[in-house]
Amino acid sequence: MRKGILTIAAVGLLTTGGLTACGDDSGDKAASAKTPKIGVILPDSKSSARWETADRRFLEEAFKAAGVKYDIQNAQNDKTAFQTIADQMITGGVTALMIVNLDSGTGKAVLDKAKSQGVATIDYDRLTLGGSAQYYVSFDNETVGKLQGEGLSKCLTEKGAKNPVVAYLNGSPTDNNATLFKAGYDSVLKPKFDAKEYVKGPEDAVPAWDNAQAATIFEQQLTKANGKIDGVLAANDGLGNAAISILKKNKLNGKVPVTGQDASTEGLQNILAGDQCMTVYKAVREEAKAASDLAIALAKGEKKDTGQTVKDGDRDVPSVLLTPKAIYKDSVKDVIADGYVTKEEVCTAAYTKFCAEAGIS
Ligand code: BGC
Repeated sequence: MRKGILTIAAVGLLTTGGLTACGDDSGDKAASAKTPKIGVILPDSKSSARWETADRRFLEEAFKAAGVKYDIQNAQNDKTAFQTIADQMITGGVTALMIVNLDSGTGKAVLDKAKSQGVATIDYDRLTLGGSAQYYVSFDNETVGKLQGEGLSKCLTEKGAKNPVVAYLNGSPTDNNATLFKAGYDSVLKPKFDAKEYVKGPEDAVPAWDNAQAATIFEQQLTKANGKIDGVLAANDGLGNAAISILKKNKLNGKVPVTGQDASTEGLQNILAGDQCMTVYKAVREEAKAASDLAIALAKGEKKDTGQTVKDGDRDVPSVLLTPKAIYKDSVKDVIADGYVTKEEVCTAAYTKFCAEAGIS
């Protein structure tokens, strides 16, 4: 493995003002090295709490620790705003742009423009298909889905479910991660459908991961299945909570296992209350740190070898893929111990007793 090796990219000679004289160490470095200023565009603040509560916080933490300038903005699920923010950041002199795309088409336009202006680019969390980002930093997203499939299966077994009907609430059809999550849970569940151990119920993708729409969609699924849904593969905690809200209306919560992702406060509370089977914890602090390190290196004209690539068509995109972790009732405390959420956030009023039961002190 060549992990962590640091190679210095060719030093450009295109700086304005030309080379400074030899021996002049007055600080005017004539290299491609620039003072890092990093722009980050987050996608929205509704599809998952993580973007504002975890990513913003941990990115700020990483940039501050490194002493670099930064500008973090949120496109609030508006593709036009996304492009406008990118243009403003490029004009404002960012040396690196980190994006969480809203779809590959608009993401690509932003990445290509940044590239043409000499701005380094990183796909943060979501890969832009057909894009031009120099790095991709994320989690092993197929494993995220696999953990969800295994989690649902474990909870169905614990409930003693016989030939359970499993419904799917997939993520946004324009998010490459949603495709990877589905590939992961299908790898676990499809063999069970094929073996007639489980029954495939209704399946829908939720546009833009819209939590409110997910509740409507799940209500329709439940009606379509005549109320007979025994397990819900929900691709993240927001979609899971939407399903739980409908199950509650039908007095089915706690009986029907539901999955999730992101270890959100709400998701963890649903797990503690017994309404959600599991979530997938992704240590966003590590993701933010890895992306920040790469963005700073690129600004300095350095090229880090990540030791791993991901295929996007014919292109091998240098990548950092971190390891996700399944969380059940007995491991909610691990997420708190890791500093991702606090006990005070999770163990509010109605949840105090569930916290005590789960060993959260
Ligand atoms: C992220 C998930 C998130 C979802 C909705 C995905 O791309 O990987 O963590 O829940 O988007 O924002």
